[in-house]
Amino acid sequence: MGELSGKTALVTGGSRGIGRAVALRLAGEGALVCVHYGGDEDAAKETVARILDAGGRSFAVRARFGEDGAVDRLFEGLTAGLAEHGVNGLDILVNNAGIASTSPIAQVTEEEFGRLLAINVSTPFFVIQRALPLLNDGGRIINMGSTASRFAVTIQIGYTISKAALESMAPTLANELGRRGITVNTVAPGAVWTDMTIGYTSMPEVVAGLEAMVALGRLGEPEDVADVVGFLAGPRGRWVTGQTVDVSGGTYLGPIVPA
Ligand SMILES: NC(=O)c1ccc[n+]([C@@H]2O[C@H](COP(=O)([O-])OP(=O)(O)OC[C@H]3O[C@@H](n4cnc5c(N)ncnc54)[C@H](OP(=O)(O)O)[C@@H]3O)[C@@H](O)[C@H]2O)c1
Repeated sequence: MGELSGKTALVTGGSRGIGRAVALRLAGEGALVCVHYGGDEDAAKETVARILDAGGRSFAVRARFGEDGAVDRLFEGLTAGLAEHGVNGLDILVNNAGIASTSPIAQVTEEEFGRLLAINVSTPFFVIQRALPLLNDGGRIINMGSTASRFAVTIQIGYTISKAALESMAPTLANELGRRGITVNTVAPGAVWTDMTIGYTSMPEVVAGLEAMVALGRLGEPEDVADVVGFLAGPRGRWVTGQTVDVSGGTYLGPIVPA
């Protein structure tokens, strides 16, 4: 029996990248996992298939964040899927789905900025709001932030603002929900090998430059992040709330001087 046996989880953006690793991690510990996705049905099906093949329980729900009614569609699919499995409450919510940006301020259009805030901030906010009546006491909310809120990257200004706003939710929500034993935290990865970062991880010189800023000397794998989410989602994470947990191998801590 895994430590999440009998628990239910929703992982937004569980079809690919970090979200897939989180979905596999939570399901591997016994949770019934709802794999949310925005459009890549094949990827979502593969995540679910991998969970089922390993003996776990999972189902997928599509909802394109940023479109009208997306949160309604997510919760219709979530509650229907849970009911099919004979349960109706949610124990773990991982707000992972997100988009990046690669423009300096002069090139950020109102449309791009609005989309960043809609997908990275407003949607997780309203997903939490809608999840509250479903969340069981002792539950977990984990938002996927980024080290982008800790240091400045000119071409990520829109993304940085969105992740800082997302990160700001946890302390207030932790205070509000703590008496129910619900913890709320932000996990902040550094650069991780996923589709999101392929634009620069495909360039060896950029990767080398990034690795030079990381204390542990490499970029992250999705599983590096998923293990920390798994900890926070499980019973051993019960005394951590309202926090941002940096999961970046020690990115940009200061100059790395050869010994
Ligand atoms: N990779 C990194 O270096 C890194 C670092 C720090 C933080 N993060 C954060 O970690 C999270 C996951 O990143 P990732 O690198 O795993 O990204 P990814 O590989 O690009 O995957 C993004 C996931 O989010 C979903 N998604 C994207 N836009 C959506 C929309 N409009 N509606 C619904 N779902 C949508 C995608 O669904 P589909 O498959 O259906 O498209 C996919 O499951 C993001 O919040 C990101 O900001 C990533």
